[in-house]
Amino acid sequence: MRLAFITSNPGKVEEARKYFEPIGVEVYQLKVEYPEIQADTLEEVAEYGLRWLAERIDGPFFLDDSGLFIEALKGFPGVYSAYVYKTIGIDGILRLMEGVADRMAHFKSVVAYWDGEAHLFTGRVDGEITREKRGTGGFGFDPIFMPRGFDRTFAEMTTEEKNTISHRGRALKAFSEWLKENLK
Ligand code: IMP
Repeated sequence: MRLAFITSNPGKVEEARKYFEPIGVEVYQLKVEYPEIQADTLEEVAEYGLRWLAERIDGPFFLDDSGLFIEALKGFPGVYSAYVYKTIGIDGILRLMEGVADRMAHFKSVVAYWDGEAHLFTGRVDGEITREKRGTGGFGFDPIFMPRGFDRTFAEMTTEEKNTISHRGRALKAFSEWLKENLK
C-alpha cells in the first residue's frame, strides 16, 4: 500500500517511514497547501483540512497538526503555535514566561487519516519550558522544551531520541498500529 503524507516538511516524512515500513506501507510526501481554520482544538483544524483535501485527492492520505500548550499561559500558543513561532518566536515565549514559576507545558499532535472516512490519532508529551534556549537540533520550540524525565531539551537530543518520546512519534505509532490491524 502507498500512503501520502500531506506536508511540506520532508523530516516528518522520514520520521513516519520508520513506523510504516515494518508493516509494508510506503509513505510518500505530497505537498498540497490546505486551509488551516481558526478553531479551539487541533482536532477541528486537522479534520477540516482532511475533509477539504478529501475532495481533491485520490487515494489514502494523512496529515498532522501539532502545537505547544503552556499551562501558565492557559494553553497558549496551542492551536496558534505556527503563527506564534513565526511572529514572536521562541524569544517572545521566553519573555512571556519571565518570572513565571509554573513552567509546565505539553506538545500535542493530531494525525488525521482519510480512507473514505476520517480517523484521528493523538499523541502527547509532557515537560517544561526552560528559562533559556538550549541546543541546536530539531525545529520550532525544541530549544525551550524539556520533556519530563530528561535533563535535556528536544534540541539537545538526536532526532531518533526525540522521535521515540515525541507527541508526533506517539501519534504516528498509534496510527501505524491501528493501520496494521485494519489492513488485515
Ligand atoms: P505543525 O502543525 O507541525 O506545523 O506545528 C505547528 C507549530 O508547532 C510549528 O510551527 C512549531 O512551531 C510547533 N511544533 C510542532 N511540533 C513541534 C516539535 O516537535 N518541536 C518543536 N516545535 C513544534
